[in-house]
Amino acid sequence: MKAVVRTNFDDSVSAYDAYEQRTGRFTALAKLLAAELAARADGPVDAVLDAGAGTGVSTRVFAERARRTVALDISREMLRELEGAPRIEGDFDHLPVLEDSFDAVAFTASLFLVPDPAVATREAARVLRPGGVVGAVAPLGWVDADGRDVFADLERESRSPTGADAVEAALADEFTVTTGTWRFATTAADVRRFHAIPAMAARLYPTLDADERVARARELLADLEGTVEQRWRWIVGVVD
Ligand SMILES: C[S@@+](CC[C@H](N)C(=O)[O-])C[C@H]1O[C@@H](n2cnc3c(N)ncnc32)[C@H](O)[C@@H]1O
Repeated sequence: MKAVVRTNFDDSVSAYDAYEQRTGRFTALAKLLAAELAARADGPVDAVLDAGAGTGVSTRVFAERARRTVALDISREMLRELEGAPRIEGDFDHLPVLEDSFDAVAFTASLFLVPDPAVATREAARVLRPGGVVGAVAPLGWVDADGRDVFADLERESRSPTGADAVEAALADEFTVTTGTWRFATTAADVRRFHAIPAMAARLYPTLDADERVARARELLADLEGTVEQRWRWIVGVVD
């Protein structure tokens, strides 16, 4: 599973950056998450571990706010793009960092990509100082103007390895958590751009190769029109 996720993101660098330049969505998620982390930590958030940093979109946001931000990602190709922070190529299920060494661990759109988020959650608890905070953002999908799931209407499920409820439950086992939903008005064209990213098209067609799954997602979404709402669950946990 992890090898597949790594390969999917290794294949996704240019499409990911094109989507982010067009929408700024991951920057927006990281800014919102950074604000929740700062509001809920006991003490300053000076040292942040950006867990699943990708090409550095979220890293830039945390680095503007903290004295020390460390970026960790499993995808060498995504990480190769990242500038302005120390980089670790690694798995957030086995963090190669000392205990009590961070004020915050941030999983901006990453923790739902592992089959068992409890492992990374325990690792986050290990490396956080007392009073430190963990944050995660997990997708809840897209709904149309009538409140219907866009993919249910298309008779296809857009599925992550782990759902938002399971991510929240894993964090709640280790931390005292607060959660909420962020909603973004977005266009049908941006839903198509999102699924032009091979790692995201894998949500719809996990068994097809990268080019084919992107082509099938394009066909599936060709007639989608108007505006749709994209929803993300956020979860912030405080070390007890
Ligand atoms: C949707 S991207 C988000 C990247 C970044 N946080 C941002 O906001 O743009 C998810 C990232 O999580 C990484 N990832 C997935 N599973 C991982 C794991 N087990 N350990 C470390 N990184 C992982 C992927 O390689 C990918 O770069």
